[in-house]
Amino acid sequence: SQTITRAIRGNFFDFSQIVGVPSELESQARYIEDGMMFLNSGKIVWLGSREEGERRLAQNLSAVPLDDYRDKLIIPGFVDTHIHYPQTEMIGAYGEQLLEWLSNYTFPTEAQYHDIDYARRMSAFFIEQLLNNGTTTALVFGTVHPQSVDALFTAAAALNMRLIAGKVMMDKNAPESVLETPAQSERDTRTLIERWHNHKRLSYALTPRFVPTSSPQLLEKVRAIKADYPDIYLQTHLSENADEISWVKSLYPEHQRYLDVYHHYNLTGSRCIFAHCLHLHEEEWDCLSDTDSSIAFCPTSNLFLGSGLFNLQTSWQKRVRLGIGTDVGAGTTFNMLQTLSEAYKVGQLQKYRLSAFEAFYHATLGGARALHLDDKIGNFDVGKEADMVVLDPSATALQQLRSGNSKTLAERLFVLMTLGDDRNIYRTLVDGKVVYQRAK
Ligand code: GUN
Ligand code: ZN
Repeated sequence: SQTITRAIRGNFFDFSQIVGVPSELESQARYIEDGMMFLNSGKIVWLGSREEGERRLAQNLSAVPLDDYRDKLIIPGFVDTHIHYPQTEMIGAYGEQLLEWLSNYTFPTEAQYHDIDYARRMSAFFIEQLLNNGTTTALVFGTVHPQSVDALFTAAAALNMRLIAGKVMMDKNAPESVLETPAQSERDTRTLIERWHNHKRLSYALTPRFVPTSSPQLLEKVRAIKADYPDIYLQTHLSENADEISWVKSLYPEHQRYLDVYHHYNLTGSRCIFAHCLHLHEEEWDCLSDTDSSIAFCPTSNLFLGSGLFNLQTSWQKRVRLGIGTDVGAGTTFNMLQTLSEAYKVGQLQKYRLSAFEAFYHATLGGARALHLDDKIGNFDVGKEADMVVLDPSATALQQLRSGNSKTLAERLFVLMTLGDDRNIYRTLVDGKVVYQRAK
């Protein structure tokens, strides 16, 4: 018999399998109305009906604490595949598109993270924001300062959170206060990898900011480090903005396309996650697909900076791994429900119908797969890590009114993402423990 440390009652929703086309999603959607889940500390050990769960609990010799969420909807914790923690304090900066936004707002903000005490305070605030919004795993940019990443990993480790992060690497086209030399970048990055990669549930991501802030010498260093750590992640930006793409062309004229620069330095492949990917040529799509690279789709950021519309249809056709990113602070919310709502509108502008099933899939199991973590998180299979969010689908008067008119599960999920926000986050569990509770 299995040790049970906690039982959870509620309505459970997840996806049982990775799918190849969106039409397969409905058959993989798993909904257990009035269900029960058993945890053994940080792991899921059983999930089934409440009746069967109660029978099993009655046979159990020791008393098991039961969390009763009977009117709530419990889903796997949200996975945010692209976010910048040192941009939290500048979210919603007015008036600019990407390159001016970086110069006017981003670089001066990130410069403050040379101060470890400041980085610690902001790390605590940032992780609290993730948890308040039901996000239990994220792939996170730090700043160029190694202490920014030390502070973030320290805060995540204290909660035993599954988090991937890295210090930004950048050596040109920005103020001195956020630049480094390639040699310094390599030293600092290697030190951080040795300290944090595969420590508890943490992983390290090599983080060259993007091509315009990277010299060939810096990209060579990234290549060399990546070759030494076969299971290391890499995160960067790709093809976000028209002026950015022209700039890349002028900086690296010997390369045909933006992605060719990364690919030339072996910075494509499994566990390489490219944010945005809005203006890709067919060859770039094929390169992402052939190398098993992943994409982070960041709808609120893409609309806020006026960068463009991501093509979900092509990402399915090309079979590229895909997750959702909030991209705070160019993105305008930490909340995945709001982010999915904007993803739907990005689809609408291209005549693509993003179903609620597809949206929730990308935000959970799909995102986990984009991060090569779908053997550990992303759904409620027995043996998976117990990271989940308890949603209150009727948190507001408007939601209560509207849910009275929702018939199917798909409709209820769609209304939840369309009207939803942080008020719908009732509890967040990380590693089997409640780490956020809504005030009432
Ligand atoms: N490209 C390079 N740096 C950034 C950044 O910080 N945010 C976004 N959205 N795009 C970038
Ligand atoms: Zn970004």
